[in-house]
Amino acid sequence: MTSAEPAEKLLSPVLSDCWDDDRPWTLDTYLRHQGYQGLRAALAMPPDDVIALVKDSGLRGRGGAGFPTGLKWQFIPQNDGKPHYLVVNADESEPGTCKDIPLLFANPHSLIEGMIIASYAIRCDHAFIYLRGEVVPVLRRLQAAVAEAYAAGYLGKNILGSGIDLDITVHAGAGAYICGEETALLDSLEGRRGQPRLRPPFPAIAGLYACPTVVNNVESIASVPPILTRGKEWFKSLGTEKSPGFTLYSLSGHVTNPGQYEAPLGVTLRQILDISGGVRAGHRLKFWTPGGSSTPMFTDAHLDVPLDYEGVGAAGSMLGTKALQIFDETTCVVRAVTRWTEFYAHESCGKCTPCREGTYWLVQLLRRIEAGEGVQGDLEKLLDIADNINGKSFCALGDGAASPIVSSLQYFRSEYERHLTERRCPFDPAASTVWAHRSTHESATEREVHA
Ligand SMILES: Cc1cc2nc3c(=O)[nH]c(=O)nc-3n(C[C@H](O)[C@H](O)[C@H](O)COP(=O)(O)O)c2cc1C
Ligand code: SF4
Repeated sequence: MTSAEPAEKLLSPVLSDCWDDDRPWTLDTYLRHQGYQGLRAALAMPPDDVIALVKDSGLRGRGGAGFPTGLKWQFIPQNDGKPHYLVVNADESEPGTCKDIPLLFANPHSLIEGMIIASYAIRCDHAFIYLRGEVVPVLRRLQAAVAEAYAAGYLGKNILGSGIDLDITVHAGAGAYICGEETALLDSLEGRRGQPRLRPPFPAIAGLYACPTVVNNVESIASVPPILTRGKEWFKSLGTEKSPGFTLYSLSGHVTNPGQYEAPLGVTLRQILDISGGVRAGHRLKFWTPGGSSTPMFTDAHLDVPLDYEGVGAAGSMLGTKALQIFDETTCVVRAVTRWTEFYAHESCGKCTPCREGTYWLVQLLRRIEAGEGVQGDLEKLLDIADNINGKSFCALGDGAASPIVSSLQYFRSEYERHLTERRCPFDPAASTVWAHRSTHESATEREVHA
């Protein structure tokens, strides 16, 4: 693909295919778009063959780490006499990350169908959706879709006459970012305070209620039905060799047209900006995140990095959740990093010292630098604290908190230094509108509430 190619050639709407239809969230609309055909194909195959198909397709988890989905399912021990569980992670709370909530709002049946297929494959008869608690309109829509699926015979006893049973419980989460970490999520689902568990044992061996459990992201599971209907070769024909398939890129911030852009893995930010109207008029790109605030930031030098797991990794960051947050030249990088760090300090669960204490002290230092009250040595202190968090914390929240600090100092050290030497923020904070931009799903949710 080249950046000159038209949008229709660059984009690959699969999950978002029906989003422009009238009432896309209903079962009727979903059925008009090949809905539940993947389930019929799966039920005609032995469960192990379904696992093999998903494994061979190369689908990688869309929750951030890119772990192979079929392999994760294969880890579930069979004939162990224990219940098996599927838990869908719909907690979506990272700054900039906004794909699962719009997906659930627009097309909840794609997740439900994927869950039935995954449950059949891992031999599970009770699956859970852990949804971010704040998104009440999405909760209601999901509950209505689950009820529709029960009424149509896709859930409950003897699904489509197959002899297979499945119940789905929709659980409203506890309103904490840490509850998106899969083991904290399991503790929260069990009714405890959400804090990460020591591993091993991994959830595949001792997960929910100490039983074998698969935890998958919403988009990972929703991507499964099209693989059943269209085949693994079709899936592998999209994307790159090691990161095959299509995915949702969430464009937000200082852009002309924020929103979800579904494209094959490996597209570049330049291509996405070309087809979406680019950075807002009269401004230029300063920095951006490839996968949400916990992934090291990029600059305009990275416009042509292939947005797949390998390409972004080789360039020094992580694909994460493919949340492309765009910041133009009006943004003070110190201000942006301070706001992110305040988020991590607030969301630190407090279980381990490097993250609990380190994020607190990072915020103190950043606030005084941003206010022009920093002193010589503060930048070294920032890096020292970040180094004591990164790789030394109990879970990846700590690593994520260190990312914006280290990467912004790598690319914009002189801007930090100006705050120290000029003893003020060189940007007029009023000129920075970055925090006034709301994510697409919040706007969509709001529109729905007012409708
Ligand atoms: C602090 C933190 C928050 C996370 N939040 C989410 C989330 O909201 N949704 C999600 O799918 N994964 C989240 N993850 C990653 C999960 O732990 C897990 O890797 C993921 O749900 C696995 O799904 P996948 O294999 O389908 O990608 C988070 C991880 C951390 C450390
Ligand atoms: S890294 Fe932070 S969020 Fe994770 S266990 Fe430690 S204190 Fe909790």
